[in-house]
Amino acid sequence: MSTYSTSASAASPGRPRLTPWPRARFVAAALACCTVMSGCGTEAAPVKTQSTAEPDCMPSRTMFDAVVKAHVASHCGTCHGETPNFGAPNTLTGSYESLVAGAVGTRFVDRIALRMANKTMPPTGGEPVPHQVQDTLVEWASCGAAHPDHSVGLVVDQPVFTAPKTADAGLAHFDLTADNFAVAEDELDLYECFTFSAPVTEDRFVRRIEVLIDQSKVLHHVVLLKDPKKDFALGRKKCKGMPSDSQYLYAWAPGAGAVAFPEGGMRVKPGEHYIVQIHYNNGAAVKNVKDNSGVRIFHGPVAGTEYGMVAAGPLVFSIPPHSTTTATGHCLVKETTTVLAGMPHMHENGVAFEQVIVRKDGTRETLVSLTGWSFEMQPFYRLTTVLNPGDRVETSCTWRNDTADAVNMGTGTSDEMCFDFMFVTPPPKNPYCNDFVLDASADAGYLPGKCAGADAAVAPALSKTKLLFTGAPDNTGGDWGTARWQLKSATLALPAIAKTYMNPETSTIIGRGQAWTEKGRLTIDASVRILLELQQNNGVDTVDKLSMSGKVIAGDKVGEGTWTPDCGGTVAQPIGWSVHGDELTIRLGKSFAQFVVPGLYTFQRVGSN
Ligand code: HEC
Repeated sequence: MSTYSTSASAASPGRPRLTPWPRARFVAAALACCTVMSGCGTEAAPVKTQSTAEPDCMPSRTMFDAVVKAHVASHCGTCHGETPNFGAPNTLTGSYESLVAGAVGTRFVDRIALRMANKTMPPTGGEPVPHQVQDTLVEWASCGAAHPDHSVGLVVDQPVFTAPKTADAGLAHFDLTADNFAVAEDELDLYECFTFSAPVTEDRFVRRIEVLIDQSKVLHHVVLLKDPKKDFALGRKKCKGMPSDSQYLYAWAPGAGAVAFPEGGMRVKPGEHYIVQIHYNNGAAVKNVKDNSGVRIFHGPVAGTEYGMVAAGPLVFSIPPHSTTTATGHCLVKETTTVLAGMPHMHENGVAFEQVIVRKDGTRETLVSLTGWSFEMQPFYRLTTVLNPGDRVETSCTWRNDTADAVNMGTGTSDEMCFDFMFVTPPPKNPYCNDFVLDASADAGYLPGKCAGADAAVAPALSKTKLLFTGAPDNTGGDWGTARWQLKSATLALPAIAKTYMNPETSTIIGRGQAWTEKGRLTIDASVRILLELQQNNGVDTVDKLSMSGKVIAGDKVGEGTWTPDCGGTVAQPIGWSVHGDELTIRLGKSFAQFVVPGLYTFQRVGSN
């Protein structure tokens, strides 16, 4: 898998911000599960081509004034402005009256609901409209009757793990639901958690989980998690972040079905804590909503195959600003394990997800591969496969971070995660599987990026460098002239104390890249893979793609200044440099886990123009 684009970190090269590795802290952050996500349809939802407007639907004027008007202006206004442009047939930025005028089914609001629900508007290629905004516009325009189909664009190579329409006769069940929960008229993005103690009196096997829908007009996603450490107290509370060690057991979004074990099941013990997280959105401004949605859990005696859940994926990573980054977690299989299904999980920056089995003999088999990631569509996929001791499962996530801040592993919606939550048998001893693997053939996956010079080499030499534990050397500055350069080494400059938290022998940085310089200008095009062995066999394996070109303006200190991109970014970042003969070292702030450390890129002169 090879994606590339720009990457640059905005941290002062002069002031490293590394603190000693607080293992407990970053494992806690790493293990924490995040925010809401949800499951999708058992069958692909048919694309709607006809208005589904309800005869008495009159979208809320209050909501129009409060949010809809502004959303339409900023996301549709370029084409549907006062004077329609770029082929748009009409204006949509006028008054509330102009949108609701006419016969129900043919009004502008009905056409907006239809075209946005089936995702044929706005046209592709433009600025994407955030899912939250799509949800609000469609729900407002349809009075809560329609929901955008976020599975459009999602490409998966495995079937959804479907369940029979109804539960087997004779199964006992219990319900975990909201408590007549009041959803305010102006509520657009509310995450509420309801925590329960499992109402069983002896060990049972969960056989099937399905959603209970009460107030469909305000219901967005319903997620069921297990909270093994009982981090959340019983009862309800607002929750954007989730407890550490949460396990995702079920997720629902409009169109999704149930999850059921073909035989056997997953153990539920008396008193275990389960959380139902519900995402509410009252885009239609429905009044006096009291909701009792939730999940129904069917259970039977402890009999047949026992399944458990394991989360496979990288536990530590950071996505630099303006970058495309891939992080990979390696799970070494210790005992013969059968995988039944898995739920790939990332947050909103996700671009692609891939899981590969590397068999003991080196053969690679794709387990599941997703592109066109949609945060709202996170069902379980059927992954029926047997893993043998000596096999390795590689779980890779690719994210695009378009912001000026690094995005780290974490629990909030604005953080990121990368896991496949898999139902496996026998149940795993450890709920997470992540091992450090140093693959001798590892490469950095370089392809020239968008800012590379016209004379870019397609495969510049591979460099392998150990970490530096002496801090960063001073920037000495100097004149780099007009030249072309090839990456000779890339490393992180860490304080000596960091040695106690990572293995200096195995931790390696692999890179391929090149640079171009002229007076006051620098272009770097490189791909850097960081392989760090942390304590307890945890590892970091991330690939950052840096392709950036721009002006360098010297600051007050020798060899320091700011690099302002006109390709590959919009935000200026601090930079340091040292020229020694035919060697140029560039120092950039490199985000790593929750920290920013100096990253040193050393280039060898290969030609001058
Ligand atoms: C890049 C330009 C562009 C943007 C941005 C855009 N549209 Fe359009 N829209 C068009 C064009 C072109 C058409 C006519 C072709 C078509 O129907 O696909 C159209 C048609 C429509 C129609 C059908 C009109 C009819 O008479 O049936 C609706 C409804 C619509 N757009 C809604 C929206 C909404 C809502 C947004 C913002 C969320 C939006 N559009 C953003 C270009 C745009």
